[in-house]
Amino acid sequence: MVNQGPISLPLTILSVLIPFFLMNSCIATSEEKGTALIRKTCNHTMYEKICISIFESDPRSFKANYTGLLRIGIELSVSLTNDTLSYISKVFDNTSETSNHTLWLKMKGCHDNYDFAVFEISQATDLFDKGLYRDASRKVAFANEAAFLCRTSGVPQFVERNNKVDKFTHDIVLLLYPNPPK
Ligand SMILES: *[C@@H]1O[C@H](CO)[C@@H](O)[C@H](O)[C@H]1NC(C)=O
Ligand SMILES: *[C@@H]1O[C@H](CO)[C@@H](O)[C@H](O)[C@H]1NC(C)=O
Ligand SMILES: *[C@@H]1O[C@H](CO)[C@@H](O)[C@H](O)[C@H]1NC(C)=O
Ligand SMILES: *[C@@H]1O[C@H](CO)[C@@H](O)[C@H](O)[C@H]1NC(C)=O
Ligand SMILES: *[C@@H]1O[C@H](CO)[C@@H](O)[C@H](O)[C@H]1NC(C)=O
Repeated sequence: MVNQGPISLPLTILSVLIPFFLMNSCIATSEEKGTALIRKTCNHTMYEKICISIFESDPRSFKANYTGLLRIGIELSVSLTNDTLSYISKVFDNTSETSNHTLWLKMKGCHDNYDFAVFEISQATDLFDKGLYRDASRKVAFANEAAFLCRTSGVPQFVERNNKVDKFTHDIVLLLYPNPPK
């Protein structure tokens, strides 16, 4: 039940949302930049507040055009996923298998899924640079899946960080595809 490995359940959920995003397909013109572009881009996402706050945490976001902003979004997704894996590893390594085996197994499930997700998502920037936005989107979706699976297992220590990964990568997946740069 716990250690089911990376499955593609959230992608099914995401595909249900795609028509909603298609209606907003004309997101930004190439000239727009700064706060206005960040707001406008995030205005079309599901988790607007997290989208804005994570983009605004990186000074580069204010100077980027829409293409640049999406690339930064991938980089931020990669570091967020990697940092979450580091955190999960630290807590997991410090948890004994015998004290609460159920909890330990849940932590192991989160750890293994995040470990796999970091490997996959680290390929997303190269794909993006080749203009393969749909493939880049799929790589980011691995992080969203890891977060989805970890959320369902409900390890209390992981909830907050996992939520952030879940929401931000969800939005980046759908911005990359079906709302790629022109
Ligand atoms: C967006 O910015 C990048 C540099 O970050 C530049 O190479 C590219 O030509 C710009 N795209 C448009 C459509 O202006
Ligand atoms: C956000 O979207 C709503 C409706 O789609 C629109 O009324 C509003 O002006 C948009 N805000 C920004 C900052 O683009
Ligand atoms: C490791 O676990 C112990 C006791 O369970 C706790 O006191 C300590 O703060 C933990 N260390 C880390 C780095 O989580
Ligand atoms: C083990 O951890 C779970 C959380 O996954 C918790 O619900 C349960 O109460 C814990 N059991 C013990 C004996 O602490
Ligand atoms: C993840 O973080 C570690 C350091 O904690 C670093 O060595 C590694 O290169 C990072 N991986 C990615 C894909 O960013």
